[in-house]
Amino acid sequence: MNIIVTGGAGFIGSNFVFYELKQHPEDRIICVDKLTYAGNLSTLEPVLHNPAFRFVKLDICDRDGIYKLFEEEKPDIVVNFAAESHVDRSIENPTIFLETNIIGTSVLMDACRKYGITRYHQVSTDEVYGDLPLDRPDLLFHEDTPIHTSSPYSTSKASADLLVQAYHRTYGLPVSISRCSNNYGPYQFPEKLIPLMIANALADKKLPVYGEGLNVRDWLYVEDHCKAIDLIMRKGTVGEIYNIGGHNEMRNIDIVKLILDYLGKPYSLIEHVTDRKGHDRRYAIDPTKIHNELGWLPETMFKDGIKKTIQWYLDNKEWWENIIRGDYQNYYKEMYGKKEVIGS
Ligand code: NAD
Ligand code: TYD
Repeated sequence: MNIIVTGGAGFIGSNFVFYELKQHPEDRIICVDKLTYAGNLSTLEPVLHNPAFRFVKLDICDRDGIYKLFEEEKPDIVVNFAAESHVDRSIENPTIFLETNIIGTSVLMDACRKYGITRYHQVSTDEVYGDLPLDRPDLLFHEDTPIHTSSPYSTSKASADLLVQAYHRTYGLPVSISRCSNNYGPYQFPEKLIPLMIANALADKKLPVYGEGLNVRDWLYVEDHCKAIDLIMRKGTVGEIYNIGGHNEMRNIDIVKLILDYLGKPYSLIEHVTDRKGHDRRYAIDPTKIHNELGWLPETMFKDGIKKTIQWYLDNKEWWENIIRGDYQNYYKEMYGKKEVIGS
């Protein structure tokens, strides 16, 4: 099969490319990526010369470019990871989120309609469900939980999900959608909580925790997410949504402390700063459906996954130090310079 993977130079997309080439050497992977600030071609270095892999630098909003690629490659499956993915950036500038996450999704699906595919899979997020209260641990997101978004990012992802469902109902496009909780693991851009805190701790810089750090996320090791998507796109039911999560809820402050413990750094590096606007309190996924229908279960326990991840950042300093030497410096100054310290 020919499989187009968009956003394959980013965090989850690159892990997915590696997973597919390893698990399904009989398939061909065509990676489409615009190489935004979040995309990194060096991540894909180990597979660039693999005959089962092709990299194409292309914007998913570029209709002519996408149609030409579909004509050339005649893909069987399209998996769409390409997105603007950082909530804080979406609060500063929503427009690019609407363009890539919504318009880009529609261009890809138009190409699927025009050239024909067996499956279009949309990689979505649990953030489309909004948030849950901190004092109701009994509540979880189910596939039929109403969409109720908070940030421009989650709203753009929810809009894309609605379009995907509309293309299924209106045009009969064979689609599926997965909504996953927070991922962690190798190759995550150091603007997200875990790699940012690792990088700052290693440089003995302050660790900026938003508010009191009591917000809860449900963390899943990235390879478990890749395995779930692989199962859904090959065996999942057309037209269905699948939640993916590891029943692994953690408060931000506890994650930050765990990272400091592992690195042998003091808690005095923690700095509580102005909270994120509209900050979602808690995400928690019920993954019963994917377990019952496709037999998926997470394989990496958080206690092991976080150690592996921290060790990966220690062993691959060049990868992230290259990133934080560049434009990232300006991003960090702009994003964190205006935050006020509210305690340590
Ligand atoms: P990321 O920001 O690390 O990577 C995004 C990739 O998409 C980058 O390589 C970037 O260059 C590429 N890209 C951006 N705009 C593009 C465009 N217009 N055309 C082509 N390529 C473009 O993101 P990630 O964390 O790997 O997330 C991947 C997907 O998974 C996203 O759709 C995100 O919404 C979803 N998701 C992420 C998480 C998480 O915890 N990171 C959880 C659930 C779902
Ligand atoms: P993030 O990694 O941006 O993922 P998301 O917002 O998509 O869940 O943030 C995870 C949590 O960590 C979120 O509650 C915000 C918090 N956070 C901080 O406290 N400080 C930071 O510098 C960052 C980037 C995030």
